[in-house]
Amino acid sequence: MTKILIAFFSRADENYFAGAMRYVKVGNTEIVCGIIKDLTGADSFKIEMKDPYSPVYMTCIEEAKKDLRAKARPELVSMPESIDEYDTIILAYPNYWGTMPMAVFTFLEAFDFTGKTILPLCTNEGSGMGGSERDIKKACPGAVVKNGLPITGSQAANSKASVQKWLSANGLL
Ligand SMILES: Cc1cc2nc3c(=O)[nH]c(=O)nc-3n(C[C@H](O)[C@H](O)[C@H](O)COP(=O)(O)O)c2cc1C
Repeated sequence: MTKILIAFFSRADENYFAGAMRYVKVGNTEIVCGIIKDLTGADSFKIEMKDPYSPVYMTCIEEAKKDLRAKARPELVSMPESIDEYDTIILAYPNYWGTMPMAVFTFLEAFDFTGKTILPLCTNEGSGMGGSERDIKKACPGAVVKNGLPITGSQAANSKASVQKWLSANGLL
């Protein structure tokens, strides 16, 4: 049987939802990952920065831009000891400036994904997957990277049907 790991980055606190700023306790990507976990029973790992971005949206935007420009690899709170037991990694993240948050690069570069299948999922507010699928392929040269699923962040709680369809199309349900 396929063993699945859901690895995700998500930020709570202040975010922008269809024209308004709001503070939330659970980020959009984490909401979608909860749905995936309920559907698949997969293990999950949260990619968390040791020095997280600001809870204030406009500050976070600038910090993330600076990290992107610097090609930063922010240190993480923890790493899985190994990903050997997993054949499939559902990699979920928000679109930050057209790609993944730099912390997701830190995670990807820590392991050898040769022979593994990666399913990218990107929550966003209009830019879809951006260049993230290309960036994952570059960071994980030996992996099979499937077509990603873009989800509108503010619709995260209503994404069950599209998530289900995508998981089924990839033989995971
Ligand atoms: C630093 C930052 C950069 C972002 N850049 C983009 C972007 O380039 N394109 C886009 O569509 N949305 C962008 N967004 C919106 C997020 O992708 C969207 O709100 C996402 O669902 C947030 O996920 P989270 O709540 O799990 O962290 C950005 C948000 C932040 C905080």
